Amino acid sequence: MFAPILIVGNWKMHGRIADVAQIDAMARGIAQRPRADVMMAVAPPATLIAHARPSAGEVVLGAQNCHAAASGAHTGDLSAGMLKEVGARFVIVGHSERRADHGETDALVSHKATAARSEGLGVIVCVGESQRERDAGQAEEVCARQVRGSLPTGALDPDFVAVAYEPLWAIGSGRTPSADEIASAHAAVRDACQTVGLSGDAVRVLYGGSVKPANAAQILATPGVDGALVGGASLTADDLLAIRAAAPDRQPIQSSPPA
Ligand code: PGA
Repeated sequence: MFAPILIVGNWKMHGRIADVAQIDAMARGIAQRPRADVMMAVAPPATLIAHARPSAGEVVLGAQNCHAAASGAHTGDLSAGMLKEVGARFVIVGHSERRADHGETDALVSHKATAARSEGLGVIVCVGESQRERDAGQAEEVCARQVRGSLPTGALDPDFVAVAYEPLWAIGSGRTPSADEIASAHAAVRDACQTVGLSGDAVRVLYGGSVKPANAAQILATPGVDGALVGGASLTADDLLAIRAAAPDRQPIQSSPPA
């Protein structure tokens, strides 16, 4: 399901029914400038997925979390199957805000990702180091460990399993790593993917943390960057479409070998 480049909006706990109009506007913007090499996706609050679905067009809808179980006595939780039924085609798992707010461990993130995959949903697994870990020179090691522990189990298909590198200190802060720092973290993520059986060449590794229209072209042109996971700047169609437009051209993936 994943195109070569993924531009993914994470609305976090923002958005009411009226804000679905932004997703409609994104769909119209994409229809005006179609690109086979870019998938644009939005993970609004789960309450909005069904509302957004009728007019989402080419905007792929997803969820920000799911439970690891298919059903059961888990008050307040939603299963991957429930999210799929209302229109989610992927789930973001292991976002640092969930790891921090809800104590999610790598093992739990892996269980959630596995549950999403068993429903046929794509997963975007988030990893990233804290400021303290970066200062201690541990950024690559932390990301690699999180990748090894957080990916789903079973067959790993890069068309359905992507990783988002999101340094905690860059999220919502207006600060971004240098191109070298991003490139080296992404290389570490790819190596770690390879060690657990997810093709390091094929896996889409997104960068997330203070991506906005003004820095998108530079970030998306950084070696090893296959897209962006965007928080604040994904809330309006204008900003997310501008980030999409900043993505350099890539060859669309052939669905069957050329004759
Ligand atoms: P931000 O959030 O773009 O607002 O920094 C990114 C994220 O947390 O996914």
